[in-house]
Amino acid sequence: MAELHRPRGTRDFLPRDMERRRWLEERLRGVMQRFGFSEVATPAFENLELFTLRSGQGIIEDMYNFKDKGGRDVALRPELTAPTMRLYVEGLLGAPKPLKLSYFGNCFRYEQPQKGRYREFWQFGAEILGAKRALGEIEILALAHECLAVSGLNDFLFRIGHVGVLRKLLADNGVPPERQAPLWPLVDKKDFEGLRVALSELKVEAAPIISVLESRGGREVLQKVPGSGLEEVLDGLSQLGIRDFIVEPGIARGLDYYTGMVFEIEVPGLGAEKQVCGGGSYSLAELFGAEPVTSTGFALGFDRMLVALEAQGAPFPDRKLDFYIVPMGPQERSEALRVLAALRKSGRSADIDLADRNLSKALKYAASANASMAVIIGDEELRSGLLTVKDLASGEQRKTSLAELLK
Ligand code: HAM
Repeated sequence: MAELHRPRGTRDFLPRDMERRRWLEERLRGVMQRFGFSEVATPAFENLELFTLRSGQGIIEDMYNFKDKGGRDVALRPELTAPTMRLYVEGLLGAPKPLKLSYFGNCFRYEQPQKGRYREFWQFGAEILGAKRALGEIEILALAHECLAVSGLNDFLFRIGHVGVLRKLLADNGVPPERQAPLWPLVDKKDFEGLRVALSELKVEAAPIISVLESRGGREVLQKVPGSGLEEVLDGLSQLGIRDFIVEPGIARGLDYYTGMVFEIEVPGLGAEKQVCGGGSYSLAELFGAEPVTSTGFALGFDRMLVALEAQGAPFPDRKLDFYIVPMGPQERSEALRVLAALRKSGRSADIDLADRNLSKALKYAASANASMAVIIGDEELRSGLLTVKDLASGEQRKTSLAELLK
């Protein structure tokens, strides 16, 4: 018989995993709603070209793409910004702006799997289209910050840069835009040795460039990169009470569509896969045939956030079953079903013994199902019309009527 395994880099989520994932998902969705974002969803696969137009070599190399049975080139989405912009161009061009869109979906990248890096992973993200640039950036940065805060992650670094001024820095020092592409991966990885070699091959002096790339700190760092316009953004964040950011002009980001402010959030304890969020301002609408529109957004690495939360021992709430009903024998079954239906109808979660077990085995199962109360129905209960309710944590037992229980 064939041995069946799940594909490399993918995961199954067992009930406890799904409880945690749903818990985080609900918290993040709550933040999106509080900030006035509306959720959208796009297909898991798109025409390949959507991603090859302006995503950057790194993403293109990692893409899951194939020809479908009609001979079309399609790709599993590696990210959700390009699909969201396609959705905007196809369905929301006439909508009042600014548009504040959020999404949660699985993405696919053919990467070397390791902890925190998967071939199927989930992104929770948001995009603002058509805002005044700095105001949209403040809102997006504040939203990302709040998402990290509500998740309960207690240690994260919020780094802000600007690829526009980075491109200008390279150009001003003698690397014209058309020769910059091979340098980006080196900047992104902070491989300054590699960058020195590459710049010397271009006969460009490395020191003034690397001195800027190495700088990080408070808003005084902005003096090294004039013209970014980030002062207004940082002021806005301060006014919102957000001051724990680091200005770092050397942030390059791995995607080609960014044009302005960029940012990354990392959880230092995560090791190599420490980046839990990335985003910034970009241009895509005009590439998809629409009028240019200011665009800023981010995506959270949902799986990495969970890895970090688990590592820090976050107090995930346990799912509780309110009632577990145990009929003592076949003659009590119809009363047990009546009680079950009434409890469920009243909005309580309730389950019933489906294996015809004796009381002690049924109670053991109820505890493993995380039930709060067991409702025991035997011939005495049938006679008296009362139910025996056992608190499974304290072991206390009392008799009560169904009407009382429903209150
Ligand atoms: P990104 O930085 O490529 O940006 O991905 C965002 C986040 O997804 C990363 O910070 C990381 O946490 C997570 N991630 C990426 N690859 C993997 C993987 N293989 N396994 C697990 N997690 C992963 C974007 O995708 C942009 N679309 C963000 C954006 C939105 N920019 C503007 N708007």
